[in-house]
Amino acid sequence: MKNNIDLDYNLALEIIDDIKNDPMGAWFDLPDNFPDSELARIKETAKKINETSDYLVCIGIGGSYLGARAVYEALLPLKNGKTKLLFSGNSMSEREIKKILKEIDGKDFSLNVISKSGTTLEPALAFRIFKEELIKKYGKTEAKNRIFVTTDPESGVLREEANREGYTSFEIPLGVGGRYSVLSAVGLFPLAVAGVDVEKLLDGARECKLSQTSPEKIEDSTLVSYAFTRFYLYDEENCDVEVLASFEPSLMYFNEWWKQLFGESEGKDKQGIFPASVIYSTDLHSLGQYLQDGRRNIFETFLRFGAPSPKRENPIFVPKLNDDSDGLKYLEGKTLAEISETALSATISAHSSGGISTIEISVEDEDGSGVSEKSLGFLIFFFETACAISAILHGVDPFDQPGVEKYKKEMFRLLGK
Ligand code: PA5
Repeated sequence: MKNNIDLDYNLALEIIDDIKNDPMGAWFDLPDNFPDSELARIKETAKKINETSDYLVCIGIGGSYLGARAVYEALLPLKNGKTKLLFSGNSMSEREIKKILKEIDGKDFSLNVISKSGTTLEPALAFRIFKEELIKKYGKTEAKNRIFVTTDPESGVLREEANREGYTSFEIPLGVGGRYSVLSAVGLFPLAVAGVDVEKLLDGARECKLSQTSPEKIEDSTLVSYAFTRFYLYDEENCDVEVLASFEPSLMYFNEWWKQLFGESEGKDKQGIFPASVIYSTDLHSLGQYLQDGRRNIFETFLRFGAPSPKRENPIFVPKLNDDSDGLKYLEGKTLAEISETALSATISAHSSGGISTIEISVEDEDGSGVSEKSLGFLIFFFETACAISAILHGVDPFDQPGVEKYKKEMFRLLGK
């Protein structure tokens, strides 16, 4: 991280206070205020779904989709949940819907429709289609037992339908907007169904909140340093693109979640840093060339999870050969994780020497489990808070998205609504 930046810790604390007091800042308290009774209901309902369903089709878009998918995909190689998640309602593609219909054909499934407003077109269309499938397969009464709604606590067509039909429902608290909602029932319910330890996710977020945002810790806060550094790079060094980089392909949807969070929060009033992402080492053989030698309007933020502990993760070692016919003798005895860690350090060093400002964010569980519920919970809260601080430094409201409405208006006009 750059160290020639004057970090104004008092300003950081003031901004954090503003976030807490914002009517849309209730997400900041989710890690320590999540009601125990609601968590218990989430887990119980998840267990029932595990008994009845091979698949849970999660229907939602944007903030009502990406957080759950980010954590699910990141942990998928490690989890063996009884119910698999499928994601729909996040595009208007017929092919995608057909793919999912094919996958659930002959299998037991339930639906979790997630929409705060209840009126977003993509999930509303997918809900109609999958509800019809559910009724065809199970009949009207049983279908109702297989529909789970996550929406506004008070209003909207989904809330009305849930009340009218008696669906099991969860609330998205009023002060929690879509892209800040993964640690509410929006993310926790489907993730619990998938076998993710959602309490550990909240533990990680709580740990981040305590260690990164409390007044006693603020001067050691990587989170504050990150938020201020990215603003400095934008404001003083004309870097208007940030590339989030990691060496773990299963973090692809974490990148997507991160891009949506920053893009929708900051891209306003003709300003903001454009959020982009790469997965290395794959992209070192693609965008790596541009990062090394292209236009210098970019800075790069590396995520480092630490090599997974050999004991826990059953490491893959480079096999030993009697000869050196493939030229890899020098790597024998090393694990793939060690080699990847070294490649990460080498990439930071190469890109820095190419004139790219680099930021490194390291998260490690005390048990050395690398990408885990706890480290993901930590990072989710880390980026949510850093994003809100950064948007406020840019002078824009982190919690609205007026630009998204414009395309909707035009589309509805053309569709004759
Ligand atoms: O972050 C946001 O607020 C948006 O991305 C919304 O989550 C997205 O537009 C979906 O909205 P809704 O949950 O109302 O269907």
